[in-house]
Amino acid sequence: MIEIKKLKKYYDKKLILEIENLKFSERKIYSILGRNGAGKSTLLKILGGILSSDEGELEYNVDNTILCTQEPLFLKGNVIYNLTEPFKLIDEKIDLEQILELLDIFQIANLKEAKVNNLSGGEKAKVQFIRTILYNKKIMLFDEPTASMDKKSSYLVENILKNMRDAGKLIIIITHDYEQAVRISDCIYEVDEGKLSLK
Ligand SMILES: Nc1ncnc2c1ncn2[C@@H]1O[C@H](COP(=O)(O)OP(=O)(O)OP(=O)(O)O)[C@@H](O)[C@H]1O
Ligand SMILES: [Mg+2]
Repeated sequence: MIEIKKLKKYYDKKLILEIENLKFSERKIYSILGRNGAGKSTLLKILGGILSSDEGELEYNVDNTILCTQEPLFLKGNVIYNLTEPFKLIDEKIDLEQILELLDIFQIANLKEAKVNNLSGGEKAKVQFIRTILYNKKIMLFDEPTASMDKKSSYLVENILKNMRDAGKLIIIITHDYEQAVRISDCIYEVDEGKLSLK
């Protein structure tokens, strides 16, 4: 469960986000829509624990939360390195078989030794999505995960998200694709002028 109380976020004195009271529950997918610059990524970065709010309270377990950022962030190295090293660093068990299976499902198994910097936009998004789900956290936040993916891969992501929801995860996804939001969400929000409302 995530509970937001009277959250405010400013950039250079400009109010970017103003959210009164809001709760997100486990076993649900929430989609967030809204125009460019509306404050969607800012909200997810705050929930992901990589940005602080200026006012208000957040109640949830940030340690059991993972954020798949809008711009992929990688370690210098190849695909397999990027899918194993982050877990070695935190002493987590690595399931190589699961990693290879996910690469195969996303049709990028042939790229496992490729340098991440050389991947296409969609390929990078796939590697970042795979890494995010490998963290297997209770709360999973995705910032436009399918924006650069082809249709087939987007549907694959949607199915994985629905399965994770059914397994009890709390999932929040930012998307510009209203049809996608309708397909997968239990609840759709729109951010407009920093305020969140039900769509
Ligand atoms: N570090 C920053 N300093 C100042 N302004 C910022 C900063 N980061 C974001 N902004 C501004 O805050 C507003 C909200 O940005 P945010 O990235 O949350 O938008 P978004 O809703 O995710 O948009 P998009 O759909 O384009 O990804 C934008 O006007 C942006 O220019
Ligand atoms: Mg954004």
